[in-house]
Amino acid sequence: MTDPGRNRETEIFLKGIGGDCPAVPTGFDELERRAKQILSPRAWAYIAGGAGVGATMRANREAFDRRRIVPQMFRDVSHRDLSLSLFGTQLHSPVLLAPVGVLEMMHADADLAVARAARATGVPMILSSQASIPMERCARELGDSPRWYQLYWNTSNDVVASFVERAERCGCTAIVLTLDTTMFGWRTRDLDLGSLPFLFGRGIAQYTSDPVFRSLLQETLPAPAVRPRITLKTIAAILELRRHGAAAGLSLREMRRAVQRFSATFSRPSLAWSDLAFLRDVTKLPIILKGIQRADDARRALDHGVNGIVVSNHGGRQIDGAVGSLDAMPPIIAAVGGKMPILFDSGIRSGADVFKAMALGANAVLLGRPYAYGLAVAGETGVREVIRNVIAEFDLTVGLAGCTSLLDLTPDCLVG
Ligand SMILES: Cc1cc2nc3c(=O)[nH]c(=O)nc-3n(C[C@H](O)[C@H](O)[C@H](O)COP(=O)(O)O)c2cc1C
Repeated sequence: MTDPGRNRETEIFLKGIGGDCPAVPTGFDELERRAKQILSPRAWAYIAGGAGVGATMRANREAFDRRRIVPQMFRDVSHRDLSLSLFGTQLHSPVLLAPVGVLEMMHADADLAVARAARATGVPMILSSQASIPMERCARELGDSPRWYQLYWNTSNDVVASFVERAERCGCTAIVLTLDTTMFGWRTRDLDLGSLPFLFGRGIAQYTSDPVFRSLLQETLPAPAVRPRITLKTIAAILELRRHGAAAGLSLREMRRAVQRFSATFSRPSLAWSDLAFLRDVTKLPIILKGIQRADDARRALDHGVNGIVVSNHGGRQIDGAVGSLDAMPPIIAAVGGKMPILFDSGIRSGADVFKAMALGANAVLLGRPYAYGLAVAGETGVREVIRNVIAEFDLTVGLAGCTSLLDLTPDCLVG
């Protein structure tokens, strides 16, 4: 990919002569506003909400705002190389798509639209354990383009092993184990709407398509502690369950059991470092731990032989009042000392943010909410445009800051 920044600008401005504007706004604030206009209150709460009063989400952004880029001049930046090799895969830029669950709440094409956009742009997609579409169907859409699998470790190791085996067969080249969601955070926007998508059969397609998970559906589980009132909404929820069941080849009764089984087995509060040995036994793929925020945990990850980490606080969705993810980076970078790749997410909204995270020492970054908003606004086209815009702005920022390759992005490019 050469000159992605100037090429994108040129494309937009030439189309503009004929009166065409980009399908999605090029700046994050307007993109977010448009997504909010389109989405239902429940979908908006799910995507935009954070834990508690949202202090961690704000801290994520403050950590970016506090740091400022200090450009160098007279540097011949006519050729810029954003490429890198990550876990043996050659990438044209250090941007990947974060695993985002329940994408059907953003757009009916959900993960399929994201897979198509990932393929069109060559950006790796990290398939979520909470996807709306089974990984096998996404893998077909992805063609030859790179993909990893994100794992939530549920209470059945057999299901975990089955997920990993399927991911390998789907061509995933790394397993991203998310550690920060052993339970759902206290997400007040969802709580106030009484809205948990999984209870409607949304976002559990990896489970309902899994032979090992399905074999558990015959086992009886204790009845739920609370029964909802029977209202028109309850009937709509049952119809939705039936629709999801039909898509998975399950009867309504089986689908209700699937939801119950999912709720009983998600996730795994007992998860501890000693569990890593099991995962190491079931896969030879690189294992990347997502959710690391402390230098001592990064050191433990190294000691346990994991292959990489994602410095992330899940976009502020898990703990309220936590450290901004970018502020967690410097001690982790120092502790790891270049011994494994460090990826970053939580708060990336633009190409300039990618620059800041890379300058602080990340090897690559994950884009989260921005592409989900692009999906909400314009489906596959929306995701594609968001990806291209972020990479375009990153490329321009690299050049305008006086840099020509990722190696030039160092902490002295920043103040604050
Ligand atoms: C709606 C939503 C769903 C998410 N689902 C998952 C998931 O299934 N697995 C996971 O590891 N992380 C999940 N995440 C976290 C993202 O992978 C990423 O860490 C986060 O979006 C980064 O924050 P940002 O989008 O504010 O930059 C989700 C985030 C959002 C907003």
